[in-house]
Amino acid sequence: MNIKEFKLERYFAKHEFTAKYLLSSSDCDGFALKDILSYASKNEIKLWEDLKLGYTESEGSSLLRDSICKYYKNVTKENILVASPGELNFIAMNILLTPSDHVISVSPSYQSLYEIVKSIGCEISYWKPEPSNWYFDPEQLEKLIKKNTKLILINFPHNPTGSYLTIEELNKIVEIARRNNIYIFSDEMYHKLMISNSKELPPISDIYEKGISLWGTSKSFGLAGLRTGWIVSQDKKLLKSILAFKDYLSICNSATSEILTLIAVNNIEKFLNPNIEKIRRNILHFSEFVNKHNHFFEFIPPKAGSTAFVKLNITDTSLQFCNMLVEKTGIMALPSEMFEYKGKYIRIGFGRENFPKILNEFDCFLNTY
Ligand SMILES: Cc1ncc(COP(=O)(O)O)c(C=O)c1O
Repeated sequence: MNIKEFKLERYFAKHEFTAKYLLSSSDCDGFALKDILSYASKNEIKLWEDLKLGYTESEGSSLLRDSICKYYKNVTKENILVASPGELNFIAMNILLTPSDHVISVSPSYQSLYEIVKSIGCEISYWKPEPSNWYFDPEQLEKLIKKNTKLILINFPHNPTGSYLTIEELNKIVEIARRNNIYIFSDEMYHKLMISNSKELPPISDIYEKGISLWGTSKSFGLAGLRTGWIVSQDKKLLKSILAFKDYLSICNSATSEILTLIAVNNIEKFLNPNIEKIRRNILHFSEFVNKHNHFFEFIPPKAGSTAFVKLNITDTSLQFCNMLVEKTGIMALPSEMFEYKGKYIRIGFGRENFPKILNEFDCFLNTY
């Protein structure tokens, strides 16, 4: 297997634990263990205290999958598989695809979505948004379809632009895929982070028989440290193959993470609501900041999710700009080079409590830049 370096993750590895401020994280602040336990019912506390740290059920704890079921229509726990999101993505691509397949992926996007596809040897086409408003046009998607297109990769709420679809647009994509007998892998890691008046989309697995939904605890819940995700599909045969592949990787999930995920999934509003409030508040702060520096930034507020992709009107490259910023101020910002996206952009992450303080420091930097 030959796979290119994951640029964004390497950039984070370099700065995330040494930089003083994180301006570009896509996850919200992590909740404390004591907070999660304070939301637990008596039964859940008993599960936690009596937990034995042996191997766990390979497909994910039966109790946890029962709880996850309530966020999906017409599925039972047999339609759900729990593992880390990256692992599920990796396995699903390797099960679904062979080198002779063609795949369409949203772009820019989280690199693993398309890089694993490329490592398999598939031909890939990119479905790109209109940069003036980050609109992804389903008609453009349809034009990319070839005879051997096997899979469409989508990600809404979209990282990094904050773009979102209407239900009509999503239905159109499903209709295109169904007509051409194509799978849809829908990365829904930012599901339910509804920060504008956009209407929440259903998971793809609810509306399409060849749809695969991926969700997890990192973004919507602010629990990235649990490393827990799940995929949901009506295609049980596919899930069985993914489970068999997992035996060669993690085999099963962390017992402690599964119980904590169960508590989080059963108390979602305790996590989701503060995250949404924080993101909305920080978007307002950022809008004021951009107004002050309007010659410098072009900002399209996100419709959903926790991030925006902000254009920089500068002569340096965005990477040079970000390197200077972290060196002089300790603020880590993610340049568009990490998304292999042409043009000068940085991703802004709105899920951090210290966001206003970071903007103060950023303001000082810009005054002397
Ligand atoms: C679109 C998207 N998919 C998947 C992931 C991976 O999620 P996790 O960190 O939970 O593995 C991320 C993380 O940034 C993401 O932005």
